[in-house]
Amino acid sequence: MEAILAENLTKTINPRGNKPVYAVRGVDLIVRQGEIFGFLGPNGAGKTTCQRMLTTLLPIDGGRAEIAGFDVTKRADEVRRHIGYVGQLGGADLTATGRENLTLAARVYGLKPAAAKAKVAKLARLLDLEELLDRIVRAYSGGQKRRLEVALGIIHEPKIVFMDEPTTGLDPQNRANLWEHIKTLKSRGITVFLTTHYLDEADALADRLAIMDCGKIVAEGTPAGLKAGISDAEIAERVKRETASHATLDDVFMKMTGRSLRDTGKGAEN
Ligand SMILES: Nc1ncnc2c1ncn2[C@@H]1O[C@H](COP(=O)(O)OP(=O)(O)OP(=O)(O)O)[C@@H](O)[C@H]1O
Ligand SMILES: [Mg+2]
Repeated sequence: MEAILAENLTKTINPRGNKPVYAVRGVDLIVRQGEIFGFLGPNGAGKTTCQRMLTTLLPIDGGRAEIAGFDVTKRADEVRRHIGYVGQLGGADLTATGRENLTLAARVYGLKPAAAKAKVAKLARLLDLEELLDRIVRAYSGGQKRRLEVALGIIHEPKIVFMDEPTTGLDPQNRANLWEHIKTLKSRGITVFLTTHYLDEADALADRLAIMDCGKIVAEGTPAGLKAGISDAEIAERVKRETASHATLDDVFMKMTGRSLRDTGKGAEN
């Protein structure tokens, strides 16, 4: 059984008084259990619309989808039980502490107080939140808050986690730190569906990826396989266009600040 399956997934949006917008036009996807699947594409490509259909947040207009073997339209409750969603805006209460946010979420999922406490401790360990738990979320840095959002997204131990641009707006060090945590989820057997704008992110993390454009999948495969399909002449063309050498400022920042400098809430970031 595949973790995520989509066949001819379609979404038409009818804005009032305007022509219909074909946000998603016949998307086929197979995401295997335990893999990190990168979902790439420019602004407006249809990534979020796809993700929202797959996660039951938006009705499917055409085609069909299954999550963990359950039809997304007919078995929405089962689907919701099996997935976690880490949206870009985030759902944490900024006026509460991390511990309060996590405890409330655990209680909403039906855990008794003692079990909720144990669950919060476990997630805090997993996502390096231990020293931040009793701090109010408003005072978290971007990276810390994003880790809390991930913890909130997996509190019910879903097997499949959807993340919509989890590292957008983070500095390179916090991005790298979150990457490590995403890999940890994978090592726990969790399937990660990762929407991102960053090519390097998909390259570093994804076992396989799909690139969307104008509502359609235009390329799909492993990062290495996709890159192997690019000819030397095409690379030469790009190098001509770009002013940078092969290294980027990201490389320099990482070299100077040290990737091993871990973000543990001891003031190492910002
Ligand atoms: N409610 C809506 N009303 C009108 N158009 C919409 C609506 N939702 C999405 N669209 C259009 O559908 C297309 C796909 O949007 P979507 O948000 O899925 O793109 P995206 O790939 O997630 O882009 P981004 O990278 O900017 O997040 C866009 O052209 C968008 O303007
Ligand atoms: Mg989007």
